Amino acid sequence: MAMAEQEEQKKLKSDVEAKEREGRGIVVVDPKPRKGFASQAIDFLEKLIVKLMYDSSKPQHYLSGNFAPAADETPPCKDLPVKGFLPECLNGEFVRVGPNPKFAPVAGYHWFDGDGMVHGLHIKDGKATYVSRYVRTSKLRQEEFFGGAKFFKIGDLKGMLGLIMVNIQMLRTKLKVLDVSYGTATANTAIVYHHGKLLALSEGDKPYVLRVLEDGDLQTLGLLDYDKRLSHNFTAHPKVDPITGEMFTFGYSHEPPYITYRVVSKDGFMHDPVPITVPAAIMMHDFAITENYAIFMDLPLYFSPKDMVKKNTLIFTFDATKKSRFGILPRNAKNELLIKWFELPNCFIFHNANAWEDGDEVVLITCRIDKPDLDMVAGAVKDNLENFSNELYEMRFNMKTGAASQRKLSTSAVDFPRINESYTGRRQQYVYGTVLDNIAKVKAIIKFDLHAEPETSKTKLEVGGNVRGIFDLGPGRFGSEAIFVPRKPGMSTEEDDGYLIFFVHDENSGKSSVNVIDAKTMSADPVAVVELPCRVPYGFHAFFVTEEQLREQATL
Ligand SMILES: [Fe+2]
Repeated sequence: MAMAEQEEQKKLKSDVEAKEREGRGIVVVDPKPRKGFASQAIDFLEKLIVKLMYDSSKPQHYLSGNFAPAADETPPCKDLPVKGFLPECLNGEFVRVGPNPKFAPVAGYHWFDGDGMVHGLHIKDGKATYVSRYVRTSKLRQEEFFGGAKFFKIGDLKGMLGLIMVNIQMLRTKLKVLDVSYGTATANTAIVYHHGKLLALSEGDKPYVLRVLEDGDLQTLGLLDYDKRLSHNFTAHPKVDPITGEMFTFGYSHEPPYITYRVVSKDGFMHDPVPITVPAAIMMHDFAITENYAIFMDLPLYFSPKDMVKKNTLIFTFDATKKSRFGILPRNAKNELLIKWFELPNCFIFHNANAWEDGDEVVLITCRIDKPDLDMVAGAVKDNLENFSNELYEMRFNMKTGAASQRKLSTSAVDFPRINESYTGRRQQYVYGTVLDNIAKVKAIIKFDLHAEPETSKTKLEVGGNVRGIFDLGPGRFGSEAIFVPRKPGMSTEEDDGYLIFFVHDENSGKSSVNVIDAKTMSADPVAVVELPCRVPYGFHAFFVTEEQLREQATL
């Protein structure tokens, strides 16, 4: 067959595939940015403004050391050295996403800003393959077209410069230099699997659909808009009910309705939006479900462009004088009429571990932060985060009396809580978290027993009381979110019968690895350590794609 004919057939095949994907709610992303005089003129204006208004002398902590982006993608690298053994239940692909800016920022940079890069470890019969790929977002593709950063960053949204940078992007959009018809997502925050699709998420936009290929490689298929039913942002932390197969999600916005709740059926149908009324625009990073309820967190981290300009703060500012509010709604409600709001003392929460019902009460296990400062994850970090604490808490909301209470379950600093996800929304016992040092690095993996009493006299995290084990990474070694993989799926075995899998980076040697530890014993001897061929930067959330899910999603 002639070369031209082959090319034509390939194109036809890919057009047919693209049409089929569109039929499944996957939008093929094909932005049309434009170079030319307008583009050059705006670039010139931007450079001038940044030169006059941005202090580039501050060190960029989140672009240095092992926070610095990987220089490139890594195609599948097979037969990696494995110390120990990879148990059969780990057949599948362990994935973790994180910010990996492809182009240097024009001005500010916040850790939340980088382009999503997925690091995957494909495991099959004891053998491991590593791969890393960018999520091919509309934003990334357009910046590749220009060869430089063109979209504003959260790190820019500080003071008057923030306002100007937003307007520069609006100008680029108006003059069709940038095409925002496919959104501005980074897809850098978390990964979830639902209805045969692996989704890369960032809370400022819609999900991107990934496909894992047979050799473990990762491909971006497009954006998911649920047959045009999704027109708002989508959290990075939706919850999949392990029993019903439904997915519960929400999006937050800077315009009313500030919160929109959605339920996606087991077969992928997105039900009608349920607007949730909160008094002001806030950042709501996570939520929770129980068997019958959805729990929303109205916490006082406000979207405040006025303060940004007047007080020279980041666009999200925390008000330490306000109460925290928790709204509990029957999870299949068609509107918010039955929501019940509860108040607890001021705090912020990035991540919940789980929630369930206990008689008249709804129980929420969460990582509660006192006095958060989003600036701490902006470019220039404060080494000592004074007055900052991030502790495991139990919160209880009585649906009959309206009373709310909370109880501290740990000292600081614990976050990225994960559980055996067969128990999502159900009463359970074990939480696996990360122990953070003061510059957002993971120095240990910790296991909590919710059936044991915390030792309240403790001033630091140690084994004893409700702490069943700590896997300390040692000096200069830092990890990432640990995912629990059960030895057998479901609830037929003990809840902690399985493994924890996570990335580790050794700052002494500059080498990265994937560690597997025994979740039951939390033994200091890892079950397996897989040496990786390159450095894996610190990042955000992880997910384990099972062999069954790999087979299912391969048909997309
Ligand atoms: Fe998160």
